Amino acid sequence: MEQQNLDALLKDMDLDEKIGQLLQLSNNFYEEEVVMTGPAMQLGIGEKEIFRAGSVLSVFGAEKIKAIQKTYMEKQPHHIPLLFMADIINGYKTIFPIPLAQGCSFNPKLIQECARIAAKEATVAGLHVTFSPMADLVRDARWGRVMESTGEDSFLNEQMVTAMVEGYQGGEKGAELASKGSIAACVKHFAAYGAAEAGRDYNNVELSERTLRDDYLPAYQAGVDAGCALMMTSFNTLNHIPATGNKWLMRDILRREMDFSGVLISDWAAIEELIYHGIASNKEEASKLAMEAGVDIDMVSGCYINHIAKLIADNGIAEQLLDESVMRILQLKNKLGLFENPYKDADEIESKNMILCQEHRERAKIAATETIVLLKNEESILPLSKKKRIAFIGPYVEEERLYGAWSLLGENKDTVTVRTGVENVYRGSSDETIFCRGSSLLDPNEILYGFNGIVNAHNEQSNEVLLTEAIRTAEKADLIVLFLGEHAYHTGEGGSRGDITLPNCQMQLFREISKVNDNIVTVIFAGRPLDLRKIEKNSKAILYAWFPGSEGGNAIADLLFGEKYPSAKLSMSFPYSVGQIPVYYGGFSTGRVFNGDRANRFQSTYQDIPNEPLYPFGYGITYTEFQYDAVALSKNILQKRDLIHHENVIDIIEASVILTNMGERMGVEIVQLYICDIHGSVSRPARRLKGFQRVMLQPGERKKVTFEITEKMLRFYDINMNYVSEAGEFRVFIGGDSITMNESRFVLE
Ligand code: NOJ
Repeated sequence: MEQQNLDALLKDMDLDEKIGQLLQLSNNFYEEEVVMTGPAMQLGIGEKEIFRAGSVLSVFGAEKIKAIQKTYMEKQPHHIPLLFMADIINGYKTIFPIPLAQGCSFNPKLIQECARIAAKEATVAGLHVTFSPMADLVRDARWGRVMESTGEDSFLNEQMVTAMVEGYQGGEKGAELASKGSIAACVKHFAAYGAAEAGRDYNNVELSERTLRDDYLPAYQAGVDAGCALMMTSFNTLNHIPATGNKWLMRDILRREMDFSGVLISDWAAIEELIYHGIASNKEEASKLAMEAGVDIDMVSGCYINHIAKLIADNGIAEQLLDESVMRILQLKNKLGLFENPYKDADEIESKNMILCQEHRERAKIAATETIVLLKNEESILPLSKKKRIAFIGPYVEEERLYGAWSLLGENKDTVTVRTGVENVYRGSSDETIFCRGSSLLDPNEILYGFNGIVNAHNEQSNEVLLTEAIRTAEKADLIVLFLGEHAYHTGEGGSRGDITLPNCQMQLFREISKVNDNIVTVIFAGRPLDLRKIEKNSKAILYAWFPGSEGGNAIADLLFGEKYPSAKLSMSFPYSVGQIPVYYGGFSTGRVFNGDRANRFQSTYQDIPNEPLYPFGYGITYTEFQYDAVALSKNILQKRDLIHHENVIDIIEASVILTNMGERMGVEIVQLYICDIHGSVSRPARRLKGFQRVMLQPGERKKVTFEITEKMLRFYDINMNYVSEAGEFRVFIGGDSITMNESRFVLE
């Protein structure tokens, strides 16, 4: 449709129809035969509103979506199609590793391909919009939703968000949303949802505007620059103002400064929650605040649908605001091509052939292999020797839920378990292979309330019985691989934890096994960095598998047996203990830098724990070793652009290292560039990631790895809140993690 047709359509719509476009309902309003009584009553709506609502979330399956669309369009006065949205986070049915793990790949191209596959499967099943990627920067491992982020660093998050948006929408900026296999991306949660105080979900966020701009906004901006079609508001307050009613944040920052022109959707009932945040006394006031902030879609609350008409009648808001929102929604439907083809790619037969096909599974396996982090490997115990007598023990040996908390469509039956994966690689020697459970996943009295129903360990064999069997098995083995972890529902939305260790029953298993066998390799499944102090002490190797997805078992087995080698690096620091949180790389130096001398009391440290995390951001090892030669700079002075005679010439310093593979196996190293601005008009962080490259080297091979440093990379919000670079000296680090001291210096003039 041309814009003039959309204008004409809008003009022809009556007030109720326009307000309807702003309403998003949940699946149950359309999936059940009889129009819902309970939920409909709760929202204060009837059949008329249901068939005027502009969008619906969480309906799955081509057949169902087509049927709903058909009925809906017959009843919608102008036959405007309904938008179908859902949370397709790390895959539709072919499940990829959780986003935090995806960050560890430092491989945006791979992540783009994963997003593309998710989009293809979701669209053939009828969906139009995915509520992904989550661009929230995270620094608190207690928060359950760190699993949905790509980590603690804004530069890495920018790359990943861009990759995901391009993967979903099918290309760069001018993405053809209507083209086959493309789904509209909704970047979320604007803004700073990841900074919830004390890591408690939905909690307040108190953040300086400088940190917000320097560290938190860039990843959302990357989504906007990549052309994301939608943005979702966050649940939290930001410096005392709930985001969903924050006009400054949504209009001045998001729309004006960041140049976002797409559809702004509230998070679930977040408009109504403005009342509980205490900035609106009723739904009408809440609606007014959200409309004024420019929130277009009201996700499943009865605010807009029941109050906008009155607000307009009473001159509480101008009808113009409503028209703007409706137009943005119509434009999105138009970009998706829904006016011409309201079913878009929905196709039952193709769904059957494409979803979970071999090609998609292959990609999921590669993604899992590239996101699992090797944290420790004493005595080169890994890769495992097939000649050894190995026992595979732990509640994750046969666990099928390897896809994390946010995979609405992931199914246990489609997951390759660790046991199956090991049997696939270890064929022929399986009489030597022993698998046993060792303990339940959850402690006996623990109950987890999941997204659908509860989980507990009530039907398990007693832990005493499981443990006795495991000890007997461990005594006979040369080496034990322990598969431990938190439950997927310990993580995700509403999944904050105060104690980020493994369940007691699993720790007991770990302790007892360590008593009878020294050779322990521990594989951990988790949605967050856990407190691994005890595990670290008594494991010779640790492989951090996160929630690796449908092909997790195959990927883990390949890595354990050296069919593949680990290459991932941490996207988030692992706290030494919860007392350090928030702990992240490159913080500020303080005026009292701890120099290691505890006799000097007045320094910035703890009396009982170190300052440093157990494993820093960017860290990860592999089956070979890399040597970095000193950082070489092409010159030591970088000119600011405006000082150069030729306006268009941008000055560049080339920073390089020679990287050598010192071992006997091939390997991939993720070479990282960090820069530190030594002095500024405001205190500057100790360092920030500015580049990374994946480099593959054969044994003995040497390669020069070069990064370009430009003035633009040195900009930040100065004392006057201007985004500029400041002349002075800078440190450049190039190495394999965020604590590398391999450095050189240059001056910006
Ligand atoms: C609430 C979550 O915060 C958001 O991320 C999600 O997209 C919506 N619910 C819809 O399910």
